Amino acid sequence: MSFDLLIRNANLPDGRTGIDIACAGGRIVAVEASIQGAAERVIDAANRLVSPPLVDCHFHMDATLSLGLPRLNQSGTLLEGIALWGELKPLLTHEAVAERALRYCDLAVAQGLLAIRSHVDICDDRLVAVDALLDVKKKVSPYLDLQLVAFPQDGYFRSPNAIENLERALDRGVDIVGGIPHFERTMNDGARSVTALCEIAEKRGLLIDMHCDETDDPMSRHVETLAYETQRLGLAGRVAGSHLTSMHSMDNYYVSKLLPLMAEAGVAAIANPLINIAIQGRHDTYPKRRGMTRVPELKSAGIPVAFGHDCVMDPWYSLGNADMFEVAMMGLHVGHLTSRDDMRFCFDAVTKTPARIMHLDGYGLEPGCYADMVVLQADDPIEAIRLKATRLFVVRRGKVVAESQERVTNLWLDGRPATVNQADYAPAGRSA
Ligand code: FE2
Repeated sequence: MSFDLLIRNANLPDGRTGIDIACAGGRIVAVEASIQGAAERVIDAANRLVSPPLVDCHFHMDATLSLGLPRLNQSGTLLEGIALWGELKPLLTHEAVAERALRYCDLAVAQGLLAIRSHVDICDDRLVAVDALLDVKKKVSPYLDLQLVAFPQDGYFRSPNAIENLERALDRGVDIVGGIPHFERTMNDGARSVTALCEIAEKRGLLIDMHCDETDDPMSRHVETLAYETQRLGLAGRVAGSHLTSMHSMDNYYVSKLLPLMAEAGVAAIANPLINIAIQGRHDTYPKRRGMTRVPELKSAGIPVAFGHDCVMDPWYSLGNADMFEVAMMGLHVGHLTSRDDMRFCFDAVTKTPARIMHLDGYGLEPGCYADMVVLQADDPIEAIRLKATRLFVVRRGKVVAESQERVTNLWLDGRPATVNQADYAPAGRSA
């Protein structure tokens, strides 16, 4: 047999070790020990972890890398971020949005992040960001899957032309229906917006991803309406509620009723730990609420939970570098997800769970899947998060699209040279 690419001696996320992965015609054709045959390129993974690509199912690519334009967020709150973005919006140009987005996609590929779901604000009547990101989506498609969500940032009912603009954006090819019910003028308008947006998605056969209850107000309960409409319209498995931070502050009895309703309806949850640990609880004195949604409880209820990056260097968040392990690391800490099982869950929350939420085609490491994968400088999923592991090779459709050197440090102590490779410090007793 002759292959395009053969990766030897891989550790897999499911715990198998010493596995070879053979790729041909852009697909994985075999995953087993000691594959016989030649290949155009052979990579020895040397018992490092080979994973399907990182996936970010919640991002804002129209705002990314705009930090400081036209000014910085002084209060650090969501609302000042929205106001600041409102100042920048009329100044956006097609070229500037596309240029920043393409630069971010380069960074993403370098980090093994090969699929991104990005919300795009449709409240600018010019739809500048929509057109720019539709162009970017086409340009990056050979190396990155970009899904776009029509997002009425200033409110579906509250923003003057959002109702019409949302339909225009979908007509132009935006993939998914978004919303922001907690930003409407009243709770009632918020609930009505959820119903209207779910009906649009149902009529057009589209997925839904709604910013939902991104507030510390325990009475913000739009996810309840989202679950109701998902069930009423038969949209199970096609709907995600993003942020859901009010759940952190809700009454425990109410949550004990809400979670089974979400599970029954088939609504997925997307937490954004970096941004929400930074933005929530800003009106608290002490103790300060963490603000991230109830990830362990959602997990226990059988609801798919993914972690998103949300923002990188924009009006809401000044930091970030497309590293989904950093996102997982924060989610792990904020959610007290420190058992071995929970840490592996955090790895899934930035790989296969968001892939499932995005309905990504051909994702995984089985024969028949696309030959998309990342060779990491770590031995297993937990070590990958702990080390924010270097992406040694990033593979798309069977071709290496990014390559990094092992992170190794030379020490010179009392004239005694030594080498530190962080990946060699993994605990001997770890369980895969
Ligand atoms: Fe968001």
